[in-house]
Amino acid sequence: MASILIAYDTGEGQTRKIAQYMGYFVSRSGHDVQVIDIRRPPSGFSFDGIDAVLVGASIHLGKHSRHIVDFVGRHKARLEAAPTGFFSVSLSAGVEKQKAEAGRFLEEFLQKVDWSPTIKATFAGGLLYREYGFLKRWMMKKIARDAGKDTDTSKNHEYTDWQAVDGFVQEFLAQLAHDQATE
Ligand SMILES: Cc1cc2nc3c(=O)[nH]c(=O)nc-3n(C[C@H](O)[C@H](O)[C@H](O)COP(=O)(O)O)c2cc1C
Repeated sequence: MASILIAYDTGEGQTRKIAQYMGYFVSRSGHDVQVIDIRRPPSGFSFDGIDAVLVGASIHLGKHSRHIVDFVGRHKARLEAAPTGFFSVSLSAGVEKQKAEAGRFLEEFLQKVDWSPTIKATFAGGLLYREYGFLKRWMMKKIARDAGKDTDTSKNHEYTDWQAVDGFVQEFLAQLAHDQATE
């Protein structure tokens, strides 16, 4: 059994949903898991006793937030000493002709923070129109139309491929088991 941290940063909640789903998957696999919002870590939070870490964050206006840049920068030594996975959540990752762009956002982030996680992935997020204010809803509807995505702003739309999320967590746990067996 390992002690696994899942740390996420979210704007409207989709990355939280993915992180919590991963947490459920990991705990069902028999591991200890802690899922934290990096902007509101539980008091007394520390990396002590953590064996492996998953970090997730979303894209807004072409980049990941400064909060996740700071988090990775602050904890880089700990992240480099453990098996890690990074996942980036965006609309582009769910649009066939924009998938390369989603991959670029992810690579730009890793380069910026100078971190090489053990595994990495991009996942499609959602259009959470009901959570947006007027301006954001109007802007996202326009972006969605150009991307061929849903423009019905009366409800939220989710594009996350949960099987892809399962595959990512399985790969991560397999890598962790391999590392622990060869230690
Ligand atoms: C204001 C705003 C800007 C966004 N900009 C981008 C973008 O530049 N590229 C992209 O692929 N997705 C973009 N998105 C889509 C988000 O990445 C997507 O909604 C994702 O699910 C957000 O995850 P979160 O709820 O965890 O923050 C944007 C969303 C919003 C609300």
